[in-house]
Amino acid sequence: MQKKICVLGGDGIGPEVTDQAIKVLKAIATKYEFEFSFEHALIGAAAIDATGDPLPAETVEKCWASDGILLGAVGAPKYDNDPSAKVRPEQGLLRLRKTFGLYANIRPIATYKVLYPYSPLREERIQGVDFVVYRELTGGAYFGAKGRTPENNGAYDRIEYNAEEVDRIAILAFQAAQQRSKKLCLVDKANVLETSRLWRERVQKIAADYPEVTLSTMFVDNAAMQIILNPAQFDVMLTENMFGDILTDEASVITGSIGLLPSASIGDSIGMFEPIHGSYPQAAGKNIANPFGTILSAAMMLDHFELPHAAETVRQAVLKALDEGKVSIDINKDNYLGTQELGDLIAQYVLA
Ligand code: IPM
Ligand code: MG
Repeated sequence: MQKKICVLGGDGIGPEVTDQAIKVLKAIATKYEFEFSFEHALIGAAAIDATGDPLPAETVEKCWASDGILLGAVGAPKYDNDPSAKVRPEQGLLRLRKTFGLYANIRPIATYKVLYPYSPLREERIQGVDFVVYRELTGGAYFGAKGRTPENNGAYDRIEYNAEEVDRIAILAFQAAQQRSKKLCLVDKANVLETSRLWRERVQKIAADYPEVTLSTMFVDNAAMQIILNPAQFDVMLTENMFGDILTDEASVITGSIGLLPSASIGDSIGMFEPIHGSYPQAAGKNIANPFGTILSAAMMLDHFELPHAAETVRQAVLKALDEGKVSIDINKDNYLGTQELGDLIAQYVLA
């Protein structure tokens, strides 16, 4: 088994956390006698500073030449809150998604007992929460026509979807539901939006191919409430790009630590794997970032490579560390390990 991994450390704590995932992947390669090679490339503010472009051509080439992309984080404060900035780090990420046809963003919302005290929800509400969001990633308002209308000093971002764009991610979500507890909830705003009505039509049609899966629908405003009131009701949630952006941030915080959550973006060709958290610039270089979200993203990459045993080995190693209270400062400020030490520890557990 040979795999080439393109590592895009990106900004802030990104390179530190991807370094830990590389350690763990190297340990997996040793344990299972795989050959993994790692190529590094620039993205985001780091790429703008070096080349003027948040996604340089060289990065795209290196990604094409790889079997999977491991991304740290993108974003830097100097570009935030500047509406006049022409280039932004986030454009690198959006172009990467479009270039590689990464139309399905998969964000598992798993909870861990050690984190219950950190959840903003009461323990009885968070217990047993385990769902996964399938967020459409290359359509909707993010990629629709956008612009300014000088005649009225206005602006617009158009939301458009076609049947094919809905179908392909819906099929992935139904397949996931079939592997899990066979419940799929489509989140939309079909009482107002035409695109949502298209989503419902297509998803209801596809549901016929998955008779074991129970399909439900929920308006997005209600879904935002239900994630707080009764998150345990969800299993697979399917939604369009911007609703998914907002709901996955909401869902991630109820687990008690956004630092632990991984994601996969997949589609036509190679996949990209990244933690849900951002670049956390205040922590950069301090060896305090939580590397588990990225390490668990590497596990999702292993799943995508069809190496489920290796993926499970990584997950078990992280669980062991959590159980033993070996965590980063965001989880326990009185007793914690550094980013690098946690990477070493998980690599060691993988090899044990
Ligand atoms: C995410 C992020 C991105 C998004 C930003 C950085 C463009 O919030 O991955 O959820 O909105 O998709
Ligand atoms: Mg987001």
